[in-house]
Amino acid sequence: MIVTQAIHPTHYYDQATFELEREEVFEKNWIFVGFKDQVAKNHDFITLKVGNTPVVVQNFNGQVSALLNICSHRRAQLQTQTQGNRPLVCPYHCWSYKSDGALAGVPQNRTDFGLDEAAKKALSLKEFTLESCGELLFVRVAKAGPSLENYLGPYYPILSRISAEFTDPVQQGHYQWNTNWKIACETVLEVYHVAGVHPESFAKFAKAECDIEFFNGHTTGNTPLQDTPKKWWAGARKHLKLEQSSEYTEYNHFFIYPNMAIGLTNGSLMSLQTYDPLTSTQSQLNFQLRMIKRLDGSATSDAVKAVIKANFTEFNHTILEEDRLVAESCQANMPAVNTPGILGQCEDRIRHFHDAWRSDIKPQLSSGE
Ligand code: FES
Ligand SMILES: [Fe+2]
Repeated sequence: MIVTQAIHPTHYYDQATFELEREEVFEKNWIFVGFKDQVAKNHDFITLKVGNTPVVVQNFNGQVSALLNICSHRRAQLQTQTQGNRPLVCPYHCWSYKSDGALAGVPQNRTDFGLDEAAKKALSLKEFTLESCGELLFVRVAKAGPSLENYLGPYYPILSRISAEFTDPVQQGHYQWNTNWKIACETVLEVYHVAGVHPESFAKFAKAECDIEFFNGHTTGNTPLQDTPKKWWAGARKHLKLEQSSEYTEYNHFFIYPNMAIGLTNGSLMSLQTYDPLTSTQSQLNFQLRMIKRLDGSATSDAVKAVIKANFTEFNHTILEEDRLVAESCQANMPAVNTPGILGQCEDRIRHFHDAWRSDIKPQLSSGE
């Protein structure tokens, strides 16, 4: 037999595992934040929750910092949207902060608080390590750890290059699934399920063959496209004067441990997803679609984007709904079994995902895994 054991079913719903993951997996690894162009202007910001830690990544006059998104006064959330453009001022009593997290302004300080410079400094927001790989921003909550370059290994030059090619944002959105975040990730890590789950959608788009590469928990799955989507994209590129990524021309899929995936279609369209844990049995899937840049460097018109969006949105939605149904059925059944599932060779990307997860979690678990 060439099978390996999956993670034990309890780890897909157990609250203690979930708490452990927030610290050992999410707070200690590099987590994807967004593209640099999402925080390019003064006051632009992105918020995300990394493990137990709410983080705001904010542009202060060109300086981009990752700070704790909790006010030092009475703990209101500083930025409440997932992204936007607004100075870092608390919405409750208007305390404001600088790029290093230091307190900038306290209304009525002289009469009501009497905070001197030292006291203000002590109330600084915690700052986190922010690094970029090409156009992508990643944050690490834990103080110590490898550089982003070491963490990504061979994926550093790959992400650096492709992030600079797919510069044109088309669409963003999110879905909520009633599954543990790991089950959500697992749905994109094999094409073995395509015949069963996507006979009328993904099966017509790509072949169910997959060539796999890996580095730690990060993996690549290269799947040949069917002829129809290839022809469609060749026509679209000619008509729209689009470039094509030189290296990746099939359906090339990258998973960056712990929770980020990038799918490239015919070197022309990028679909980037993150899988955020909400509770031990709920996750949020965030997606962004980006097109390859145009030959003349100009932005694709809104009309053209609308066509791509319309074409892709329904396709994307259909596939995700098919995946959601089957993933939620696996999730619902986890408490009814107490032996791990098995993984075949065609599911090797999941094995690498599980191995990385085990090495993050294992020293902390008293039994089981
Ligand atoms: S809670 Fe932020 S200023 Fe009061
Ligand atoms: Fe799927």
